[in-house]
Amino acid sequence: MTDIIQQLADRRTGARLGGGQRRIDAQHSKGKLTARERLEVLLDEGSFEEYDMFVTHKCQDFGMGNEHIPGDGVVTGWGTINGRMVYVFSQDFTVYGGSLSATHAKKICKVQEMAMRNGVPIIGLSDSGGARIQEGVASLAGYTSVFQNNIKASGVVPQISVIMGPSAGGAVYSPALTDFIFMVRDSSYMFLTGPDVVKTVTNEVVTAEELGGATTHSTKSSVSDGSYENDMEALMEVRRLFDFLPLNNTSKPPSRPFFDGHMRKEPSLDTIIPDNANTPYDMKELVLKLADESDFFEIQKDFGKNILTGFIRLEGSTVGVVANQPMVLAGCLDINASRKAARFVRFCDAFEIPLLTLVDVPGFLPGTVQEYGGVIKHGAKLLYAFGEATVPRVTVITRKAYGGAYCVMSPKHLGGDVNYAWPTAEIAVMGAKGAVEILHRSDLGDSEKIAALTDDYEDRFANPFVAAENGFIDEVIMPHNTRMRVARAFASLKSKDVKNLWRKHDNLPL
Ligand code: HXC
Repeated sequence: MTDIIQQLADRRTGARLGGGQRRIDAQHSKGKLTARERLEVLLDEGSFEEYDMFVTHKCQDFGMGNEHIPGDGVVTGWGTINGRMVYVFSQDFTVYGGSLSATHAKKICKVQEMAMRNGVPIIGLSDSGGARIQEGVASLAGYTSVFQNNIKASGVVPQISVIMGPSAGGAVYSPALTDFIFMVRDSSYMFLTGPDVVKTVTNEVVTAEELGGATTHSTKSSVSDGSYENDMEALMEVRRLFDFLPLNNTSKPPSRPFFDGHMRKEPSLDTIIPDNANTPYDMKELVLKLADESDFFEIQKDFGKNILTGFIRLEGSTVGVVANQPMVLAGCLDINASRKAARFVRFCDAFEIPLLTLVDVPGFLPGTVQEYGGVIKHGAKLLYAFGEATVPRVTVITRKAYGGAYCVMSPKHLGGDVNYAWPTAEIAVMGAKGAVEILHRSDLGDSEKIAALTDDYEDRFANPFVAAENGFIDEVIMPHNTRMRVARAFASLKSKDVKNLWRKHDNLPL
């Protein structure tokens, strides 16, 4: 009996070595952690329960029949993050470059299916050379089963991908089907076709980092929701994000003790709006001042910076924030901002996370680049996302809410539950200057008359009171009381229960 137990212990020790010490050292020399070390950082100490440690591939081709490494290039199982359960898989680059064989795929599918059955999120750590070349189509079939499970799990349990090494070819589509992708700078990349193929087909010369590195995907393509300096930082930030999220689409987001009461006043907010309506201010400052303990987990911080998206807590409960950022493009909505915010709103709605919308938007960005790029359809995504969201929604207009952008940014008519405005709000079809130039085109030569008409228009419309008279906003609030008013509004909406009409699924403009 002791012998048998010792054999098991030896087998486990062997399996934990993956592709062997030489390859582990090579992994470390690139500044990367191994698959198991990453899980140790991601999960609570001692919480990891491993499955399928002794699984090996079934391939007989290319001499593979004599070569079996237990685990087959991926470590799978479950553990906890701050006490809450999560399924995980972590690809092991030391075993056949983390490449995906039929059995490797089966291991991933098993934890995906357990995550769905048990209503628990799943986090995948990718570090892989792609399809196991020796296995050919069996590997492609394996990938496709993983994709199918990603699609089934979408909107059911949160799915998070962290790219910590190569992710090339069709392999990128599993992360792309998940809710969030994070990348590590200088050691991870994602692309459909690598630099060599790009050179052959298009004659472009580009490095792997330029083509699909973390900076590229978090600033240009928006494939990545955030990039981090190293493995350690990426995993610690994923732990932080996880704490904001519910376990599944029927459970509430976690609530945690808070030490920052909702009665906190912020006198500095009474002066945050500059006297000149064209001077920007930092909307992030407002978000931080509203949040419990100024804790804001920003999503896509480096992309579409004219809109902010991310998670805060109010009185201990998670709230998704969408906020125009006047510091960038004067806070205009454009293609990138619309896509970014629409996806975020849909995530929050799918997982019952209430939404706070902070509005300071002069309109949609004009121009051929936007029109040729399809801003009509992309803007419609955000409109659609807000319009179908049934979670509790509170909106605060701090300054400009002009034109179509007013209609998009969660107004009452689009299902906003409680809509507030600051006294500095300007809710109108357009700015005073533009309006007068259209209404009084024939007087444009008379600058005095135009100035007087502009003043008139401003007096009448550059304020929140026309909207307040119509009940389009529920109250004009003191900026210093915003945290209290918003927190109380969300508290009043706790039992909100609204359902959209039955349909097979919607037809969001894509
Ligand atoms: C089998 C692989 C492998 C693969 C790497 N290895 N990729 N084994 N299948 N796809 C093995 C190597 O043979 C090597 O084994 C070990 O992993 C480490 O690889 P190196 O090349 O030494 O590492 P490095 O220099 O860091 O380069 C990493 C790499 C490179 C850039 C990922 O290995 C590479 O280009 N691999 C092939 C990538 C690829 O073309 N994959 C298929 C894409 S098509 P030893 O024993 O020497 O340690 C695809 C389709 C999916 O994925 C479609 C889904 C729908």
